[in-house]
Amino acid sequence: MSKFFYLETFGCQMNVVDSEQIVDLLQAGGYRPVEDPENADLILLNTCSVRDKAERKVYGHLGRFKPLKQRRPDLIIGVGGCVAQQEGERLLQKLPFVDLVFGTHNIHRLPEMVAGAQRRDRRAETQFLDRETRKNLFPERSTDGNITRFVTIMQGCDNFCSYCIVPHVRGREISRPSADILDEVREMADRGVREVTLLGQNVNSYGANEPGELSFAQLLHEVHEVEGIERIRFTTSHPKDLSDDLIRCFGELPKLATHLHLPVQCGSDAVLEKMNRGYTREEYLDKVQRLKEACPDIRLTSDIIVGFPGETEEQFEQTLTLMEKVRFADVFSFLYSRREGTAAADLEESLPPQRKQERFDRLLTLQQAISTGIWQQDVGQTLPVLVEGESRQKGELFGRTTWNRIVHFEADSSLIGRIVPVRVIASMKNSQRGELPASVEPMRRTG
Ligand code: SAH
Ligand code: SF4
Ligand code: F3S
Repeated sequence: MSKFFYLETFGCQMNVVDSEQIVDLLQAGGYRPVEDPENADLILLNTCSVRDKAERKVYGHLGRFKPLKQRRPDLIIGVGGCVAQQEGERLLQKLPFVDLVFGTHNIHRLPEMVAGAQRRDRRAETQFLDRETRKNLFPERSTDGNITRFVTIMQGCDNFCSYCIVPHVRGREISRPSADILDEVREMADRGVREVTLLGQNVNSYGANEPGELSFAQLLHEVHEVEGIERIRFTTSHPKDLSDDLIRCFGELPKLATHLHLPVQCGSDAVLEKMNRGYTREEYLDKVQRLKEACPDIRLTSDIIVGFPGETEEQFEQTLTLMEKVRFADVFSFLYSRREGTAAADLEESLPPQRKQERFDRLLTLQQAISTGIWQQDVGQTLPVLVEGESRQKGELFGRTTWNRIVHFEADSSLIGRIVPVRVIASMKNSQRGELPASVEPMRRTG
């Protein structure tokens, strides 16, 4: 008889890709997915600890499973990901209904841990892998019918931004050999994938610790050569490691999407320094300028933290003026959240929560006005859209423009996997509506 698993994923794209590996491993072991945890023999949460809110969500969800375990003692409950990495054994002690805890480098050990849990062997595995054992960090993944896929090119982060838990829970930077990356991309292209997003915490420093390895810009050139791949993206970039070679790629590589997510975090030099970001406001603005010169169509998005310890009104306003200068197409903004174990955890937070929230709201209002202005420019334009699949609305397809905006439009499914021209007719908060011109010729090499 088949066994069933229920998996819930929190956090960033890294965790989404890790969950794909979890699904592959469980299916190879005879488990099948179910939508309802009530019907599962195995419940797994892949967790995120980047901010307090994310972590609380995990504990909230775990609490939901406690009564299930009381009713069905054979049910196995496991916690993986960044909270698991940070808490390890403590999670087993705090939550007696949890059977297994697997850290960010221990996903490959899941089958063996599940077998252990069936024998009532409760365990937490959180040791980090190293260069020699790194193959386990970059597993081969199963086939699916997707048009777009993420490809992990590196794991970990060495930057230690003072507020950030990621280096503590993901370990040191380890790059995947470029030959393996290119093999995976070629295989994906053969299976119908048309867009790849190269993924890592800081892809710009790809290969830096590996003597003889390609640089990130060189890797992009190689991926660009792969037949069948029509569009390339990458995330995340650290501004300090954005090289001239990489900036030039935006002008040189037609398949490279003209969108870059370039987290700035704040606009004040004093705060940037306390954040240990390794660049100044001017350096950031200079790189943005050069990106726009290399590729006038480029649109930037960013992450910003509001209310870093000690942030003054004036420093906050410098973030607003930077936003006005750059005109990001979108900004993901976050209230600063103290993370135990990070350098900034020792800094005193003097700003009352309402003041922090008030700054956050001002930032949001400004960004909404900028974003609306930028996305409205698309209305009336005919843009190349890579068609990814059917929308929830019957008879409609969806795809993305080069700027990573989702567009819904009426068309039949024969267009899935092609880049087609779509005329944008309306721009909403998170997506756009479009229509096909009278006759559709596929568009190629348009990025
Ligand atoms: N490696 C990526 C992603 C890091 S986490 C990068 O460097 O951009 C994603 C975002 O979460 C960060 O860019 C930052 O804006 C935000 N973040 C990280 N730690 C935070 C904290 N302690 N409080 C608030 N926001 C945080
Ligand atoms: Fe965190 Fe900074 Fe590394 Fe990004 S670059 S993961 S913000 S430490
Ligand atoms: Fe969260 Fe871990 Fe990603 S902390 S943001 S899931 S690397």
